Amino acid sequence: MNSIIDEAFSTELFRIEGHKLIDQIAEYLDACYDRKIEKAIPWSEPDDLLKFWQNKLSGERIPFSEIVAAALDNSVHLHHPRYIGHQVAVPAPLTILSEMVSSLLNAGMVIYETGQTSTAMEKIVTDWICSKIGYESNSGGVLTSGGSLGNLTALLAARQKMGDNDIWEDGVIDGEKYIILVSEEAHYSIARAGKILGLGKGVVKVPADKHFQMDMDQLKKLYSEFSNQNKKVIAVAASACTTSTGTYDRLNDIADFCAENNLWLHVDAAHGGGAVLTDKYKHLAEGIDRADSVVIDFHKMFVSPGLITSVSFKDNDDSYSAFAQKASYLWSKDHEKEWFNIGKRTVECTKKMMSLKIFVLLKIYGEELFKEYIESRYNAAREFAELIKQRKNFEILTEPQSNILCFRYNPGAMDDASLNKLNSALRRKMLENGKFYIVQTTAKGNIYQRVTVMNPFTNSIDFGSLLDDIDRNYFENFIQH
Ligand SMILES: Cc1ncc(COP(=O)(O)O)c(C=O)c1O
Repeated sequence: MNSIIDEAFSTELFRIEGHKLIDQIAEYLDACYDRKIEKAIPWSEPDDLLKFWQNKLSGERIPFSEIVAAALDNSVHLHHPRYIGHQVAVPAPLTILSEMVSSLLNAGMVIYETGQTSTAMEKIVTDWICSKIGYESNSGGVLTSGGSLGNLTALLAARQKMGDNDIWEDGVIDGEKYIILVSEEAHYSIARAGKILGLGKGVVKVPADKHFQMDMDQLKKLYSEFSNQNKKVIAVAASACTTSTGTYDRLNDIADFCAENNLWLHVDAAHGGGAVLTDKYKHLAEGIDRADSVVIDFHKMFVSPGLITSVSFKDNDDSYSAFAQKASYLWSKDHEKEWFNIGKRTVECTKKMMSLKIFVLLKIYGEELFKEYIESRYNAAREFAELIKQRKNFEILTEPQSNILCFRYNPGAMDDASLNKLNSALRRKMLENGKFYIVQTTAKGNIYQRVTVMNPFTNSIDFGSLLDDIDRNYFENFIQH
């Protein structure tokens, strides 16, 4: 080997390290699946872990496999059935390999030339999801880096289409004028997108009802109040489903309202959009095909690593209005709607080859994989809710609609303030203990434990054992003996 560059690009070393890596990952996955790894999250305090990695970097050169082992040892084990925390997907092994191919090709994507295959695959994947939403052939969309960026992209198009002037060109002249109505239960990225769009106080929260769905009466009331003040409501953003409780808004009712009043309907289906692929749960998203734009994260319920978000438009022409911008060094025909120059319709210039992972899963396993996975995880959340209802010291917040479930420990004779303290402390103990990874949320002002049943292998024995652990934790740490 002559130089460090030769070593860094050596195919011989790549082959050796690559074979070792695949074995290492397979062993890791087996240990997770079999619950041989004790903790779903090996918790470390941030400063301790920072020091650990600083020491690793400053010490002697170590083999690649050692760095990988240390990364595995110090991360959430998504493939562990006791991982039931956030909505981060548990990647199917073929998507891990596909990710390697997309890193190899490192396709730029801003123009067709730099990402030919990924561009073609992206059109196939986005057309497929449009058809599953129930859109017709004039629909279309793009992939983008995450649901937050997806919501921003869709609302940019809404602002441009529904505004009175060319806002892209002139800016928001009267920041007080335009309104986006969004459920108080919606993901924060919607409100953030509205702020980035320059709408300021125009991002208005619609109260949710007792089922955590957007309250239709409040929506109508707010709309008429703003109309009477000569403000222009341009869009309603609905959730399918919400992040905190996993609840689907009544999309048909909201779509009726938007149609009557000529409003853009955006549906943030980042988490729950996949329900459209199932027989059992597609009714939850009924009406989604009436939305002007829909965001779905494939890195949530499609067993794929991040980031892969589809932004689908009922009318594909709308996707070109989000960025009415010129970049003559890239596109010779700025104003032409060329589907194959995807950078005309995304925030990103350089963008990863996202489509490959979904293309691979569709080709090798078919839609059946997504359907089975989503149905089974939604079923599992319902099973867990039933188990909780049989336990004396626990209560659910609301019946689960998706695979997200909120519950709290309630040993009785405590007010909400004390229960909040107790549940917060219990969750902290669970985190430090690490056997299960669960999270917490605030709903209607109170603290709840929150699980998202993402792992395909989490079963009712795990759920029972989690409840036992919380119970034990309470008696060992929170009762004066
Ligand atoms: C409903 C909803 N929308 C948007 C987002 C943001 O997606 P991302 O994390 O991909 O930016 C989330 C993330 O949890 C979500 O639950």
